[in-house]
Amino acid sequence: MVIIQYSKYLDSLSKLGIEGAHPGGINLTKAIFKRENISRNSHILDIGCGTGQTAAYLARKYGAKVTGIDIHPTMVARAERRMQKHRLPVKIIQASAEKIPLPDNHFDFIISESVLSFVNKPRALKEIFRLLKNRGRFIAIEQTINQRLKEKEEHEIKQFYGFDSLTMKKDWVALLKQAGFEHIRIQKNTSIHSVPDLHYSNDMEPELYEIMEKHFDILSRYEEKLGYRIYSCTK
Ligand SMILES: C[S@@+](CC[C@H](N)C(=O)[O-])C[C@H]1O[C@@H](n2cnc3c(N)ncnc32)[C@H](O)[C@@H]1O
Repeated sequence: MVIIQYSKYLDSLSKLGIEGAHPGGINLTKAIFKRENISRNSHILDIGCGTGQTAAYLARKYGAKVTGIDIHPTMVARAERRMQKHRLPVKIIQASAEKIPLPDNHFDFIISESVLSFVNKPRALKEIFRLLKNRGRFIAIEQTINQRLKEKEEHEIKQFYGFDSLTMKKDWVALLKQAGFEHIRIQKNTSIHSVPDLHYSNDMEPELYEIMEKHFDILSRYEEKLGYRIYSCTK
């Protein structure tokens, strides 16, 4: 049996049941997909779907055939519950982005929203490329550092979030090209802002507060250095 170690941050996210956990929130997701050519016939994969907020939105809004995968069992359970509650035919699978048990050339769109920093990027991008149909689109909202960090700073951030690596814009472009993607477009979101919808309850474990406090502390201390971009590209 393989035992997976999640960072305390990821574990806390799953316990808090935060609806959406990517910068820009669901409103940024909506704005991004408005520009894409999605129909009822589109097959869409949401990698690291978390509680399934985006997957549910895409199924409801476009009637698309949506699949979500996530590695964390609590996230998977929450996403499954959401689809059952809203009677949405979204398939949820527990799997790693680095090895996805789905067939080649199957999806018209694959999305990852604040996920790839947690994984081995070359491996995950190879999987994403394999799963996309020719001319399929990959869209990602991903953490992007604005400048190189000192070793100590990088260690603190990687350790806390359980990030595999910290990536600058040019590194992302190199990784996407290396995986075979074309027509790479990078955007900075300046207009849509989201406030995380945290649901603190009275009987919450004190450690969860501490972890979220640390998260907000890191965000404010590294405000200038930590950012994110929207990447879109084609197979
Ligand atoms: C910051 S959350 C974002 C969740 C969701 N995309 C959203 O925007 O709300 C990161 C998600 O990535 C998932 N994750 C982390 N490592 C993963 C991996 N190797 N394979 C699949 N999912 C992973 C976590 O379980 C978590 O649900």
